[in-house]
Amino acid sequence: MTAPSLATADIETALATVSAADIASAYRILDAAGLVSATTHFSYFGLSEPDKRELFAGTVGPRQFRAMLIDMASGEQHDVVVSPSEDRIVSDRILDPAVDGQLPVVLLEFGLVEEVIHKDERWLAAMRKRGLTDLTQLRVNPLSAQVAQNENEVGRRLQRCFTFVQKTPEDLGWAHPVDGVTVIIDVVTREVLDVIDYVDLPVPQEDGNYHLASWVNQPERAGLKPIEITQPQGPSFTIDDNHVLSWAGWSLQVGFDQREGLVLRNIAIEDEGTRRSVIYRASIAEMMVPYGDPSPQRWFQNFFDCGEYLLGGFANSLELGCDCVGDITYLDAIVAGNDGQPHIIPQAICIHEEDAGILWKHSDNWNGSSDSRRNRRLVISFFVTVGNYDYGFYWYLYLDGKIEHEVKATGVVFTSAYPGTGYKFASELAPGLGAPYHQHLFSARLDMAVDGLDNSVDELEAVLVPRGPENPHGTGITQLRTRLTTESDAQRMADNSKGRSWLVSNPGVQNRLGGDVAYVLYPEGQPTLLADSESDIHARATYATKHLWVTAYEPTEQYPAGDFVNQHPGGAGLPQWVKADRSVDNTDIVLWHTFGLTHFPRLEDWPIMPVDSAGFVLKPHGFFGRNPTLDVPESTSDHCHPASGSHDADASHPAGDHHHH
Ligand code: CO
Repeated sequence: MTAPSLATADIETALATVSAADIASAYRILDAAGLVSATTHFSYFGLSEPDKRELFAGTVGPRQFRAMLIDMASGEQHDVVVSPSEDRIVSDRILDPAVDGQLPVVLLEFGLVEEVIHKDERWLAAMRKRGLTDLTQLRVNPLSAQVAQNENEVGRRLQRCFTFVQKTPEDLGWAHPVDGVTVIIDVVTREVLDVIDYVDLPVPQEDGNYHLASWVNQPERAGLKPIEITQPQGPSFTIDDNHVLSWAGWSLQVGFDQREGLVLRNIAIEDEGTRRSVIYRASIAEMMVPYGDPSPQRWFQNFFDCGEYLLGGFANSLELGCDCVGDITYLDAIVAGNDGQPHIIPQAICIHEEDAGILWKHSDNWNGSSDSRRNRRLVISFFVTVGNYDYGFYWYLYLDGKIEHEVKATGVVFTSAYPGTGYKFASELAPGLGAPYHQHLFSARLDMAVDGLDNSVDELEAVLVPRGPENPHGTGITQLRTRLTTESDAQRMADNSKGRSWLVSNPGVQNRLGGDVAYVLYPEGQPTLLADSESDIHARATYATKHLWVTAYEPTEQYPAGDFVNQHPGGAGLPQWVKADRSVDNTDIVLWHTFGLTHFPRLEDWPIMPVDSAGFVLKPHGFFGRNPTLDVPESTSDHCHPASGSHDADASHPAGDHHHH
């Protein structure tokens, strides 16, 4: 199979991110087919991924798009593929909610739950019992419903809801949870199915208004001088109309999807004049936040921010100097609004270069040389707000071939009323204010293409060699390599005590010493899903129970918890696909890497949480024949004075500008 490093202009056009014109032309066909009524909401719209095998064989057809449509009057849901250039509907499937689950949440649902619940007598009575009578202060927070718990819930489109007190329009409502009351609402029929008043816990009263100087009531920290980063000759990258980005030998195509956010395609790096592929497609294909407080009012809290909420659609517009620093290039994100019309999120994607510290350095005592080079990285990022939390997704490419992903979690932790000293399932963050323990579990979908499509995976481990004839002093260490040959072999846990990592090689391409060219995935090895193996969430998020899965490439296998996650009973996605137990040895494979945070909130996380981060690293491992950065020039900054330089250390600075030395 031809290596995808040979991406042609045709392939780049086929894979280009959805445009406003794409959305408009697809809408016309859906509308003409009678699929769009006055009460139809577009839950999802995106590029229907072409089959990679057809793409590289040059036989790919016209661009197709996938639309998920829900009629919020009847609840009828369609999963449609449309081909605008052929003027036709390719497929149209009506979902059975009891089996298939529900399409992702649409914006309408956020507003309507409060409107409906504010009129419900049972909820009003529960609020009155707590002395809460001013409806203008009572915010109702709709939460994805997990799965049906009784016959009355089966097949219905549900939200489970909590109430918060927002004392004034500028107050942070998360500081005042009305804990103990869960409301269950059918958002199609707009019926409140149940109001369950489990326990009467006092509403925490202390405010959390970090955004108001009057509440913070502290002088600003003194002495912080400006940091400004300038690139007087501009950035070192270029980007074309199909968002093909070229930087320092790297090339890739930047895409954006309503569900996954950033999608990086055909990531390749130049090596002595040859463009060599590394990854065909990289994205964060799912993320889920399971809460670990089993109390009756909140056991169901598990939010799939990709599959249930489509986090890409919640991308922030970024601001120069606040969200991104330096010489920034922004791209807009274009998604379909719930009305099926193009919705442009200006400046959603941030692209810039950063200094990345020392790349390499040595002062040699024998030959007297002293050399160092600085590393830099290309940063491609976006930030989303999903309810109380905010997440930044950062892809980094480095000069030495390293690829890194970092998720930054910030925002406001989900709160509860703290039941009392010694409570096992939450932290107390302010008087009477709890923050349930929880996890943030991400799934990176890495469709690897190390020097071509056919790759293999070995597990690497550091091992102590037993004392014996080949190791008489007991000091021998070696690396164990175990080939993961099938999908059942290739479901693995990290083990940092063994430095366990996963080597993705191409058995068909060798480096200059005869080894297979490879990249290694280094996991952080934080906990995977902590939930009972018989629990609903274990079945729905089985992907998160292993750090690594490897599957054979199949274009329809895109989302590790399945296509329709909202209220899905479970078992979809990875656990279903791997039942086939396909070979993953020297064939076209996809890696699915679970990483994330297990979060026991600290006092310092309140009222707004300093960024916590999680991610992974991919490094070349015998991919190059030697250090690939010997061609990196010495730094030209006038703040850097190489020992071999002849100029006076202070000569480049005008008089009076010496105080910073
Ligand atoms: Co958290």
